[in-house]
Amino acid sequence: MALLEMKGIGKSFSGVTVLKDINLDVRRGEVHVLLGENGAGKSTIIKILTGAYTKDQGEIRWDGRPIEIAKPSDAISIGIATIYQELNLIPHLSVAENIFLGHEKKKRGRYSLLDRKYMQDRSRELMAKLGQNIDPTCLVNSLGVGQQQLVEIAKALSLNAELIIMDEPTSSLSAQEAEQLLSTIESLREQGLTFIYVSHRLEEIKRIGDRITVLRDGTKIETVDVLTTSIDRMIELMVGRSLNNKYPKKEFTRGQEALRVENLKMKGSSQHLSFTAYQGEILGFSGLVGAGRTELMKTIFGAEPKEDGKVYVFGEEVTIRQPRNAIEAGFAFITEDRKMEGLFLDQSLVFNTSIANLREVKSNGLLSHMKMKEIAEKYVGELQIRPNNINLPGRNFSGGNQQKVVIAKWLFTNARIFIFDEPTRGIDVGAKVEVYNLMNELVESGACVIIVSSDLPEILGMCDRILVMSEGRITADLQRSDATQEVIMKAATGG
Ligand SMILES: Nc1ncnc2c1ncn2[C@@H]1O[C@H](COP(=O)(O)OP(=O)(O)OP(=O)(O)O)[C@@H](O)[C@H]1O
Ligand SMILES: [Mg+2]
Repeated sequence: MALLEMKGIGKSFSGVTVLKDINLDVRRGEVHVLLGENGAGKSTIIKILTGAYTKDQGEIRWDGRPIEIAKPSDAISIGIATIYQELNLIPHLSVAENIFLGHEKKKRGRYSLLDRKYMQDRSRELMAKLGQNIDPTCLVNSLGVGQQQLVEIAKALSLNAELIIMDEPTSSLSAQEAEQLLSTIESLREQGLTFIYVSHRLEEIKRIGDRITVLRDGTKIETVDVLTTSIDRMIELMVGRSLNNKYPKKEFTRGQEALRVENLKMKGSSQHLSFTAYQGEILGFSGLVGAGRTELMKTIFGAEPKEDGKVYVFGEEVTIRQPRNAIEAGFAFITEDRKMEGLFLDQSLVFNTSIANLREVKSNGLLSHMKMKEIAEKYVGELQIRPNNINLPGRNFSGGNQQKVVIAKWLFTNARIFIFDEPTRGIDVGAKVEVYNLMNELVESGACVIIVSSDLPEILGMCDRILVMSEGRITADLQRSDATQEVIMKAATGG
């Protein structure tokens, strides 16, 4: 029998249907994948299961019995735990304190003191179950993201969760951390735990999933077995057509120098970095998480202080002390963390697309709402942002569509140098191709495109030249024809 069944689930937001008659059964001990394009409804299903949203129609059964999940505590008491992408840990508390937060073990007796010894021992046991020997007394803020995620899983186990839900858990992990998470999931599955797993990384789904339920536009298409489903078939099911080229790279001829960085010294680094980017090429920055790629871009952009060095844009030296100077000099910076740096979540799409270039939407010194709307409509069309409601606040778009809004904002700046940091994280396969086509167009229009990405196939598939960074240094400068996964990995680990 299924551990969890959803029958005829429906959900709408202010009259717009986002889930329609969803039927889903999750078997005990399986990793059940939810797959679908950006905005298909995956996170909404999950939020219904965790009590963050309530369903409008349908029934949920647990072990055959109907249940109601009206609030998060209901889900927890049933045995459903969720590991959110934005982790919910308290940074300055210890691992054990976090694991037992909200269900602390008290000593018997008058004063009901906390039984720290019990909680630490139990935490150590739980971490061991996950194949970890993280010290339960160490502070959570001393751990990397990957380890913090494991602490969240330990917390779920301490609450006796039987079903663990993960929404794009690997999107902010390094390759190594992701690998560790996947093997942890595998071993917990062997111990009988059940998972609902959302990811846009199809190779990962192939590796970890048992069955896949495919969603399109809020409806269920089909549930299939992973073993008998190829990656191409997955794409077909989710997009509704096959995708013959995941990396639509165009051939360009290298033009004049667009950006030259000379002896740049980042805050707290002892290295001096120099590189040049040209018109007519896509320049990739590869490297392991923490190699300093994002810091370098932030420093160039004026979002981090620069200790030394010069920056030239189309041959002219520019002084950049803050992002405003960079924008004036023609830079666009599409940040990796769209929620923190890229989007105003409470503001509409109209506001978000115009905000980096208000000068262009003024008439007689006042903001022209008409112009702002036109701009928003234009990018909604070009980037296929869904839903195409320009008045919806940033918060109400799905993760991948939020990323498209951030890209739209920068396209509307007349920038000549585009820096994309992890541009397709959380974006579905079909929309990725749209983003790549857009990069091609930018290059063709004479802009310079720089991509920072941890996704090696993306770097190899789209870049004309690749710089590899390791520990704050540039360790390789490779032409497309010389670049392979092996060469890049070697340079990324210091050569
Ligand atoms: N609070 C809300 N108000 C209005 N619309 C919403 C709200 N939450 C979600 N939606 C809409 O519901 C639809 C499904 O969104 P959901 O977040 O479930 O997509 P998703 O499949 O998780 O996509 P992604 O892969 O981009 O994360 C989207 O069109 C989204 O804009
Ligand atoms: Mg989502």
